[in-house]
Amino acid sequence: MIEVMKVWQDKNAIMQIYPRSYYDSNGDGVGDLAGIREKLSYLKGDDSSLGVDAIWISPFYPSPMKDFGYDVANYTDVDPIFGSLEDLDALIADAHERGMAVMIDFVPNHSSNEHKWFKAALENPDSPERDYYIFRDAAPDGSAPNNWLSVFGGSAWELDERSGQYYLHSFLPEQPDLNWSNPELRSHMQDYIRFWFDRGADGLRVDAIRWMAKDPEFRDDPPNENFKDGQDPYNKLRHVYSRYSKELDDYLRSITEVAREYKDRLIVFEDHLDEITPVADQIRRMFNVDNTLSAAFNFQAMHIPFSTWEFAEMVERYQSALPDGALPFYCFSNHDESRVATRFGQTEARMLTVLQLMLPGIPVLYYGQEIGMTDTYIEPGLVRDPFELRVPGKGLGRDPQRTPMQWNASSNAGFSSSDETWLPINDNYSEVNVENQLSDSRSALFITKQLLSLRSKYAELRNADNYRREYCDESVFSFSRSCGIESFLTICNFSDNPVDYSLPYDGLDWSVLISAQGCDYSISDKITIQPKDGVVLKFSRFIADII
Ligand code: GLC
Repeated sequence: MIEVMKVWQDKNAIMQIYPRSYYDSNGDGVGDLAGIREKLSYLKGDDSSLGVDAIWISPFYPSPMKDFGYDVANYTDVDPIFGSLEDLDALIADAHERGMAVMIDFVPNHSSNEHKWFKAALENPDSPERDYYIFRDAAPDGSAPNNWLSVFGGSAWELDERSGQYYLHSFLPEQPDLNWSNPELRSHMQDYIRFWFDRGADGLRVDAIRWMAKDPEFRDDPPNENFKDGQDPYNKLRHVYSRYSKELDDYLRSITEVAREYKDRLIVFEDHLDEITPVADQIRRMFNVDNTLSAAFNFQAMHIPFSTWEFAEMVERYQSALPDGALPFYCFSNHDESRVATRFGQTEARMLTVLQLMLPGIPVLYYGQEIGMTDTYIEPGLVRDPFELRVPGKGLGRDPQRTPMQWNASSNAGFSSSDETWLPINDNYSEVNVENQLSDSRSALFITKQLLSLRSKYAELRNADNYRREYCDESVFSFSRSCGIESFLTICNFSDNPVDYSLPYDGLDWSVLISAQGCDYSISDKITIQPKDGVVLKFSRFIADII
């Protein structure tokens, strides 16, 4: 990764922006690209900015919005609800001027059923487009070709009444799966990627990759013996045939090949670790697609309990599986999972921001994470997410973590001038908002800003491999990052009690740089870490000389 990714190597973090919810510039209740552009100065470039060096924008393509943009009807345009291609050009140009990189979402596994290819495929079963999708004959009794399930509930097959065949949709019936074994399809998808790289996108976040390659024999998935009633019904089966066929590596490589034609483009694959393949193999696989420019997110922090051991293991398992020089990408929240401040509490989330932003690589923040935004209760009548609508009552809905950004205490939290916003604003907006926190040096926002500035200053903090666990017990997890003469020790107290922590390595010059809870500390040969605090200490002298 080292030689190719110069643009990315100095990035202190990525802010994920869900465009519907960032800022509504035209008063229609939905965020848009011009809105993101207006808010770039909040992200970087002014004295009061947060100081984050890159953004990833979730899909903005023309879409019937059945899955809010993850159903793409045209891969080379912008949906009018978000603006126009010109708005995107202007956004990219402004971001670049501020020294920010722009990553966009690429959705290879499925298109919308309103994509021209799918329309042609339905219209004429003999058209070349028919093979861009996965149509199969019905089983002899007329039922679906096999038992594969849709992530969003029910069978993964939908009957095309006109032809009597079924088509595959790993997600919604309105998201038919694309057939990556068709070379022509692959070549079109490569052209689409070129289109965005030519327009200045610096990287791609590649969606839902595990479904791109399925068993060529379409065998039934076996039952999951561990499935319990009440769980997500998708987990009734072990998805050994409907995902991850061995062709996946080639398909992913056809994406990285395009990135290789350009300079400094980064590909980050979206893949949660699954229960079937050994974890280290899964991690290595994503990075090794092209070890100079491809990577995979680490989502583990979104699935583990609030425990020192779990967090230490999450980091170390991933770090030790990384190929040499590969950059880690730690995510603690995103648009698919409950927000970190809801999962663990706002105080805990502040501590975890310190933990996340002191880890190696390029951490990924989710909009609003920096102010401690929480999930929003969505009344049943207001639910928009197809996941909740199709598999109700199991807590799978993703609307709660997608509500509008809370900018200030004015109406609609300063997000929109419309009477109604696409999702409701969280009730806590008059307290939890950017404006309040910008002027408060003990706020979550201020602490995030401090951490980002530290990451910008010390290139070594962004390195992949100078992480070292210092200590872990049931209360405290600490680790150091060696950065030459000056190095950093991060101590997180997960417990409800103050903890005396003996400082390692006698004779060093210690100072406290950051406290997640804004506590004041005095240091002797030990430091008493306050409950739920995450503290960053600087110490001078090269740690490698001491160990
Ligand atoms: C990914 C996206 C999710 C989307 C799904 C289908 O997991 O993150 O939001 O619904 O893919 O595209």
